[in-house]
Amino acid sequence: MRKLKLLLVGVALSLPLLSQAAVNKGIEGSVHDFSGTNNTWNTRSGVCSPCHAAHHTDDAQIVPLWVHATSSGPFVMYDSPTFQAARPGSPNGSSLACLSCHDGTVAINASLSGTNGAAVMIDPAAQIGPDLHTTHPISFTYDASLALLDGGLENPSTYKIGDPKTALTVQTAPVPASWSGTSLTGKTIDEALLVGGKMQCSSCHDVHKLIGSAPSSGILMKITGSDAQGRGSLICRTCHIK
Ligand code: HEC
Ligand code: HEC
Ligand code: HEC
Ligand code: HEC
Repeated sequence: MRKLKLLLVGVALSLPLLSQAAVNKGIEGSVHDFSGTNNTWNTRSGVCSPCHAAHHTDDAQIVPLWVHATSSGPFVMYDSPTFQAARPGSPNGSSLACLSCHDGTVAINASLSGTNGAAVMIDPAAQIGPDLHTTHPISFTYDASLALLDGGLENPSTYKIGDPKTALTVQTAPVPASWSGTSLTGKTIDEALLVGGKMQCSSCHDVHKLIGSAPSSGILMKITGSDAQGRGSLICRTCHIK
């Protein structure tokens, strides 16, 4: 019996390694790969082209060479009496890009040049917004002065992923045991998670499935899993001192 238990423990321990070997990096084969033949609207079977193109792209360049149609909401933003950051008013940058499929107002197959065939809308289970008042705040500047004002946030330009949480009783660095994508250890929050100094959807998710834990995460999280003490929510505990 004891031997069997040991064997089972051994199997359990080796599982993460096995699943890591099978990790699928990049857009191809991910939820954002629309090149499969079931996507009849994607006539050129492009992997990048539903979102980017080489020419005639978005005037506002909300993300580099963005060619998808952009949502105009209208959006309801997060607010609370204790939210300190300067209110953005509406989503901007890469968050606006995500919402251009995920808010359920613009078709997945809507590009700047029009919608090819019948509109294909996002699955209701993956719809975020346009009412964002129940979603973590996005599209605002997170800098050293916000951290100072708030008192419960790391300074994003000096706190590095993997640094101890000095202000807490439990000081273990909130990093996963290993990364399935590009390592984030030693990078500041600004370098690893912010987009042009701003908190965006892509502060937590990596749509290209390359960064941090994203290749092995079903929901494309940049930081997943548990620290050495087996405590999870590492993504939250990276920025928040709580
Ligand atoms: C579902 C939409 C989507 C698809 C498909 C997509 N991208 Fe992106 N891409 C984005 C978004 C959104 C950004 C903005 C930055 C971010 O949020 O990661 C971006 C940013 C970029 C950037 C600039 C910033 C960076 O991360 O280096 C490059 C280069 C890029 N994508 C290349 C590609 C290539 C090449 C492909 C195809 C293999 C591709 N993308 C497929 C949405 C997409
Ligand atoms: C071109 C349209 C499009 C864009 C742009 C887009 N997505 Fe998606 N996304 C989808 C579709 C379609 C799915 C699959 C939804 C389903 O059927 O569950 C998906 C799935 C996801 C999932 C996984 C949901 C799950 O339950 O498995 C996450 C997380 C996600 N997207 C985040 C993002 C983020 C963050 C961005 C911007 C950086 C983004 N997406 C941009 C179309 C898009
Ligand atoms: C603070 C980190 C964080 C930010 C910012 C964030 N997400 Fe998420 N997202 C998560 C987590 C964690 C989950 C897993 C489900 C949960 O806990 O709610 C998730 C789940 C999802 C899913 C899966 C479906 C669902 O509802 O659970 C989609 C799609 C998604 N996010 C898209 C987005 C989009 C689009 C944005 C920007 C408007 C965004 N996320 C901003 C952390 C974040
Ligand atoms: C990249 C850094 C970052 C990550 C990751 C992150 N947050 Fe935040 N979070 C912030 C910032 C910055 C604010 C804005 C604080 C302010 O202005 O008062 C915020 C705001 C919040 C608020 C609202 C505070 C208020 O007073 O209204 C809550 C609650 C919260 N985060 C919880 C979470 C949870 C839970 C997670 C993990 C799923 C998470 N955060 C991940 C940076 C982050």
